[in-house]
Amino acid sequence: MGHKLAIIGFGGMGGWHCQNITEKIDEITVKGVWDIREEAREKAKGQGLYAYSSLDELLNDDEIDIVTIATPYDFHKQLVIDCLEAGKNVVCEKPVALNSAELVEMINASKRTGKLFSIHQNRRWDKDYRIIKEIVDKEMLGTPYFIESRVQGSRGAMHGWRGHKINGGGMLLDWGVHLIDQLMNMIHSPVVCVDAHLQSIFSDEVDDNIKVFLYFENGVSAVLEMATNCFINHPRWHLSCTDGTAVVEDWSCKGKMVQLNTNAEMEWADDIVYTEAGPTRTMAPRPAFTTKELPLPEVQTDWSDYYKNIVDVLDNGAELIVKPEQALRVMRVIDTAFESNTKREGIHCNI
Ligand SMILES: NC(=O)c1ccc[n+]([C@@H]2O[C@H](COP(=O)([O-])OP(=O)(O)OC[C@H]3O[C@@H](n4cnc5c(N)ncnc54)[C@H](O)[C@@H]3O)[C@@H](O)[C@H]2O)c1
Repeated sequence: MGHKLAIIGFGGMGGWHCQNITEKIDEITVKGVWDIREEAREKAKGQGLYAYSSLDELLNDDEIDIVTIATPYDFHKQLVIDCLEAGKNVVCEKPVALNSAELVEMINASKRTGKLFSIHQNRRWDKDYRIIKEIVDKEMLGTPYFIESRVQGSRGAMHGWRGHKINGGGMLLDWGVHLIDQLMNMIHSPVVCVDAHLQSIFSDEVDDNIKVFLYFENGVSAVLEMATNCFINHPRWHLSCTDGTAVVEDWSCKGKMVQLNTNAEMEWADDIVYTEAGPTRTMAPRPAFTTKELPLPEVQTDWSDYYKNIVDVLDNGAELIVKPEQALRVMRVIDTAFESNTKREGIHCNI
């Protein structure tokens, strides 16, 4: 049984959805596009797609059973609700909403209509993330206690509508939603404190260089950093665990693990070491024989597994991977991060 899909918002990401589904998902045919810009509708026609003349025309097209929404964020809530109420299954781009209150309304619409509703959190299938998640899940370096996750660009301001508050612009909603979602799907414990430093270096309206500290109930803590003005990058991931450290340098996934040799002799531990920093025990390098360097684990992952799961849910009743309730936790953390930044203090919570 095949599915017919329409895309609302045929810009950069709408175009990506169309190409990815057409090339990789046999069970879904992309039929048409609705975009408020005529230029985007003409582009769709040029690619052999049907260009709807209005949102209503799309909503009334009984052939369409899935709609993917890829517009600026401030339109997501109403479009998702309209599509669900027209009987469509809905995939919405991230961030699914501007705040958790909006998302609650969207979830209620999906419960009311019984239609599938999911969010395109494709970065759960990023290779760098999957490597770190594998190390954590399999406890390859013991218990994690501090996680650093960073994306760092150097091209300055947020571009286009991403620079406008009314559209929900800014780093926290753009990349923050990915990094928080990744972390909350790796550390299975409530977030109990959020401390956000949202700086606006270039913009009068939105955050563009940010750090968010998250504290989990199980004792793990994390810093998420998103920069647009960084010229010497930290690693994409730095993972501190009780029995070692892992680093993933960048999206090419170069990196390594250093693991403690648990059987190594420890008599050296009390010896004072004379270093360039003077005599010190704690900061002196460890003897080489007490650690070993390991390659990062191999992982296979593909963004198109997101849509494969959507098809599996619709055709076979499989479990939905990206659930709206998970997105709601992420949006609550984002709400709390905005509050933390406004108050200039860490906010205690239970999310
Ligand atoms: N998951 C990812 O990796 C990823 C990457 C990039 C963008 N995105 C998301 O995709 C969404 C769109 O981003 P983009 O980069 O494609 O933006 P874009 O500006 O390139 O495209 C947005 C399109 O939506 C259209 N549009 C605006 N308002 C509309 C409305 N009310 N109805 C119909 N069409 C409307 C615009 O004309 C434009 O063609 C955002 O939510 C963004 O966060 C996700």
